[in-house]
Order: sequence, then C-alpha cells, then structure tokens
Amino acid sequence: MTTIIDGNAIGDDIRGELEGSVEVLDEAGVTPGLATVLMSEDPASSTYVSMKQRACEEIGINGIHVEIEPDAPADELFSTLDELNADPEVHGILVQMPVPDHVDTWEVLNYINPAKDVDGFHPENVGRLVAGRPRFKPATPHGVQRLLQETGVETEGADAVVIGRSDIVGKPMANLLIQKGPVGNATVTICHSRTADLAAKTRQADIVIAAVGYPGIVDGSMLKEGAVVIDVGVNRVDADNERGYKLVGDVDFESAREVASAITPVPGGVGPMTITMLLWNTVKAAGDLEGVDIDLP
Ligand SMILES: NC(=O)c1ccc[n+]([C@@H]2O[C@H](COP(=O)([O-])OP(=O)(O)OC[C@H]3O[C@@H](n4cnc5c(N)ncnc54)[C@H](OP(=O)(O)O)[C@@H]3O)[C@@H](O)[C@H]2O)c1
Repeated sequence: MTTIIDGNAIGDDIRGELEGSVEVLDEAGVTPGLATVLMSEDPASSTYVSMKQRACEEIGINGIHVEIEPDAPADELFSTLDELNADPEVHGILVQMPVPDHVDTWEVLNYINPAKDVDGFHPENVGRLVAGRPRFKPATPHGVQRLLQETGVETEGADAVVIGRSDIVGKPMANLLIQKGPVGNATVTICHSRTADLAAKTRQADIVIAAVGYPGIVDGSMLKEGAVVIDVGVNRVDADNERGYKLVGDVDFESAREVASAITPVPGGVGPMTITMLLWNTVKAAGDLEGVDIDLP
C-alpha cells in the first residue's frame, strides 16, 4: 500500500503545537511579530503574502504588512528594512520575491538582519546551514524534512536524488539531507537541467525530491520500486473547470503512486508545510531574540 503523505494534517499538527510555544512567549510578555514586505503588483505574490499573514494571525503571531510601489526607488525598500531591522516588535522579516528588476535581490537578502531572516536566505544563515549549525532552515526544505520525519522515512544511508538546484529549494534541501543527525546522513545526488540522464539517477534513488517547475518531469517508469517521492513542484495546467486551470506537481502522480512506497500529493503535500515552517522560524526568532526558552515542536 502506498502512503499518501498528508501535508495538511502534518502541518496542522505542528501549527497546533506551535500555538503552545506562542503561549509560552505570551506568558513572558512577548508577542512574536512577522513583517512581510511586498514590492510587486503580481497577484500571485500578493496571494502568497496574504496566506502567510492569515496563517500568522491564526496562531497568535502579530502580522505587520508593508507595501512599496514597484516603481519606487530601491532606497525606499532599504529604509523600510532599516526600520524593521531595528523594530523590537518585529522578530521576523520576509521580503516577498521577486522584487522589481531595479532592485538587487542579493543586496536585499544581505540587508535583512540575519537574526530576523526567517526565510533563511541571508548569506550568514546559508553558511550556517551548510556548516551544520542552522539558525533558520529555509521553509520549504525544512517542511520536506519534517514530512520525511513524520512519515518515518529512514534517510540514514539512503540514496536521495534532489532534482533542482535553486537557492530556495534544491540546494538547501540537499544540504539538509547530507548533514549528520536526524533526517540526514543520506547520500545525495543533485540533478538539474544539464544532468545527462535524469531517469538513470532517479531509478537508483530511495528518495526522490522533485523541485523543478515542470509537470510530469518524473513518472513511475523513472522510479525504483518502493521509493519515497516528494513533489515540491507547483504548476498550473489547463483544466475544464471554473478557473480554467488546476495545480499539479512535477511528478506524474498516478504512475508514480503505483511504484512508490510513499508520495506527496499536489496540492496538499509540501505546500502547507512551507507556511507552517515559516511560522516555526518566526516563533524561533522571537524566542531567540527575546531570550525566552521555548520548546519548538
Ligand atoms: N510547495 C511549495 O511550497 C513550493 C515552494 C517553493 C517552490 N515551489 C515550486 O517548486 C518548483 C521549483 O521551484 P524553484 O524556485 O526551486 O525553481 P527554479 O529556481 O526555477 O529552479 C528549478 C530547477 O530545476 C532545474 N531544471 C529545469 N529543467 C530541468 C530538467 N529538464 N531536468 C532537471 N532539472 C531541471 C533547474 O536547473 P538549472 O539550475 O540548470 O536551471 C533549476 O535548478 C516550482 O514549481 C515552484 O513553484 C513550491
């Protein structure tokens, strides 16, 4: 029987427990605060930010939202970040990407106070993760790690293939899996658009994690019997419904589930975990910055 890994249920459990951590902070007189900064008119970016803000409210995190006109000078974003970096009520700062072309993404990531960088993209936090001493694990790969943990997947000694080498998913994902310790100790192969024979790599893998953005790039014929399949991809494809589209992952779910021992669906797999682990990072940031000891779930 193939296990369908339920990211909604696992995410809900973690969020429920996080509420307990928020209460502990509350007893110490601290309300965790997450500031989101949006400098874009892209409807998808705006939806993501609203989802994050709503999720914050639900567990008692104070959401602060700043919108900057997309054609405003870059300095306006940097002075906003100056204020948020210094604001004692703000424990986490998230600049919704992408920023407009005239703003240098790398400069933005460098500018956020690393102790408030709940996305985990500041070079200091990237370095810490690679060195095996993470402060904030980026939310999506951290969420995947938790899905593997809660599903009881043995990563130690496993052959894992991560497809995708982006800074936000593929690279940190591979880095987490090679670390010594729980949900680590895997032997990891990272594949990308120049990989010569993707199927030859995935067929050897005990764990396949797809983070590409291309529907159906992995199907059942590319998997070893009993592999664990984590589908990070989110792709819009045309559909005969009211919206005219539906969301699918990178994995051809129907053929893959015939072979896999466990698999995440899209939607309802990795997606809910991403927001959950952003909340997790924000609560952690509040505890660290305020010197309050909290047990994080
Ligand atoms: N569920 C969630 O919460 C969540 C969060 C983040 C992202 N996502 C989704 O995850 C997917 C990946 O996101 P991302 O930000 O990492 O994307 P990205 O920055 O576009 O990276 C995609 C990666 O896929 C690789 N790739 C492209 N074509 C390939 C091919 N034919 N074979 C093997 N590798 C190939 C690229 O290789 P090169 O480096 O060689 O170009 C690149 O490394 C997207 O669908 C995104 O929407 C979901």
